[in-house]
Amino acid sequence: MKALVLAGGSGSRLRPITHTSAKQLVPVANKPVLFYGLESIAEAGVREVGIVTGSTAVEIKNAVGDGSGFGLDVTYLRQEAPLGLAHGVLIAREYLGDDDFVMYLGDNFIVGGFAELAARFRRHRPAAQLMLTRTSTPQAFGVAELDSAGQVVGLEEKPVRPKSDLALAGVYMFTPAVHGIIENLKPSGRGELEITDAIQGLIDAGERVDSAMITGYWKDTGNVDDMLEVNRKVLETLEPRNSGTVTDSELVGRVTVAEGARVVRSRIVGPVIVGPDTVVRDSYIGPFTSVEGGCRIDASEIEYSIVLRGASIQGMRRIERSLIGRETQIVPASPTPRAHRLVLGDHSQVRIST
Ligand code: DAU
Repeated sequence: MKALVLAGGSGSRLRPITHTSAKQLVPVANKPVLFYGLESIAEAGVREVGIVTGSTAVEIKNAVGDGSGFGLDVTYLRQEAPLGLAHGVLIAREYLGDDDFVMYLGDNFIVGGFAELAARFRRHRPAAQLMLTRTSTPQAFGVAELDSAGQVVGLEEKPVRPKSDLALAGVYMFTPAVHGIIENLKPSGRGELEITDAIQGLIDAGERVDSAMITGYWKDTGNVDDMLEVNRKVLETLEPRNSGTVTDSELVGRVTVAEGARVVRSRIVGPVIVGPDTVVRDSYIGPFTSVEGGCRIDASEIEYSIVLRGASIQGMRRIERSLIGRETQIVPASPTPRAHRLVLGDHSQVRIST
């Protein structure tokens, strides 16, 4: 069995962060979301992984390398434009050969992985095996319709009137039977080759499509609120560890301070992770916050947020529910005039209390 990881796409819902970097590399508890997926692939006993990349190919290659750090053998497959999930399978046709494969969406996050479900697929080898989860917003996902015996009988991508509340999670297992269907697939109304249409094609051809409910936690990290929620979930399991220097400060609960980090005259209430060489001075960092390496937090308060590498936050009271990009600088304005001065990238969103 091989794995096909889809790590292209445009990441439009995470702009402006994704103007300059891949959405699959946004860190959760200071580790890119994609790495959790690669770890779960290795855990499921799969070694050969094809990673589909788009315009952020270089960045993804720099982060993942040849995959040996994960015990994987990674091959990169270039998708010229984000033409759909089934298009990702189409361009991987030669790489996948006649092997069974698991298709993993690189921005998905599953606690506990999918090793058991991969074992079940290997035993029964249906043409496709899907992972489903109940959702209150089925309109935002691929939606499956099951018969009374639990077989998948219909699928729709982001339907306006969903036939069930069962969303497709981003882990699909296939035998090579899917390739014949994808070769003949037509683009959907939004111009993409949809994997839901391909699976519907398998059903229409009389092939068996199985499904399994996800019992643990799953999230598509497509937008900022979901990212923050996954970050919270992972930080809850953080092992407290102090490898930095903490002076005249208080660390409460699960707090990890990495090598070279300095915490001075500050209070950190976990779960919080502070990355290497970050300096926190005269500040408060509250629960569910991840601060990557090389950041500076000075005379500020921040909580329930993700701060990316090299960001600098000074004199801010107070930041919450925020995703702060790399090398960002947040500084107080000079006292007069009482006006906001903003230099923001395209698609930025700023909520200012007035
Ligand atoms: O997260 C689960 C959902 O993922 C499913 O319920 C939907 O049926 C499925 O279509 C997908 O919907 P999204 O709107 O979340 O897909 P997104 O465009 O975010 O793409 C998912 C991943 O695949 C992401 O890592 C980007 C990558 N991708 C996407 C496209 C369209 C590619 O590598 N190439 C592509 O052409």
